[in-house]
Amino acid sequence: MAGPEDAYTAEPFVPRRGGLPALREAAAECRGCPLHRAATQTVFGAGKASARVMLVGEQPGDQEDRQGKPFVGPAGKLLDRALTDAGIDPADAYVTNAVKHFKFTRAEPRKRRIHKAPTLRETTACGPWLAAELDRVAPELIVVLGATAGKALLGSSFRVTQVRGTVLEEEIHGRPERLVPTVHPSAVLRADDRDGAYRGLVADLEIAARALG
Ligand code: URA
Ligand code: SF4
Repeated sequence: MAGPEDAYTAEPFVPRRGGLPALREAAAECRGCPLHRAATQTVFGAGKASARVMLVGEQPGDQEDRQGKPFVGPAGKLLDRALTDAGIDPADAYVTNAVKHFKFTRAEPRKRRIHKAPTLRETTACGPWLAAELDRVAPELIVVLGATAGKALLGSSFRVTQVRGTVLEEEIHGRPERLVPTVHPSAVLRADDRDGAYRGLVADLEIAARALG
């Protein structure tokens, strides 16, 4: 039987008209799934509508939730450095997430907030925002950061280890897109061999830089 959770979707909140500022304003009021309740604010994508490359992460982290901007915490700092090392100017990229609200648990009340991975249902609910961003930005290339973004864009069979560092051509929300998947920058921060993981991220981003030309 279909439960009420099956109805989770951002769709009724997404304006059909208007550019990124109109989307951002509307996304601030999204109640498409329960994640807005505990989070501080919607963290919408950031960057210019003219950006040639769109980077898609998982969901905002603690810092992003407080500041209202994507990739401003430790993972974002690492990502900016890796982009620069790969020859992509971070200022020329549009950065966003598959899910626009921070999902977390607390070990104890008032203790540090611990990131919790969004479910497929939450990612699917938030998908209309990502589709609208792709429509307005129309990037030449999408860099997929990790499994959650990969599943959101390419389906649940996505495996980052199988396709990282390759240029994929897929139809997404009715548009032909080129995508380069890689690991999530948070995975680099957690890796035992952090230098090796960082070099792998930069190598994948170099493929993206070359695909951009
Ligand atoms: N991790 C993400 O996936 N996105 C952010 O914005 C920050 C950390
Ligand atoms: Fe809306 Fe996405 Fe936030 Fe859920 S996570 S309330 S769908 S913006």
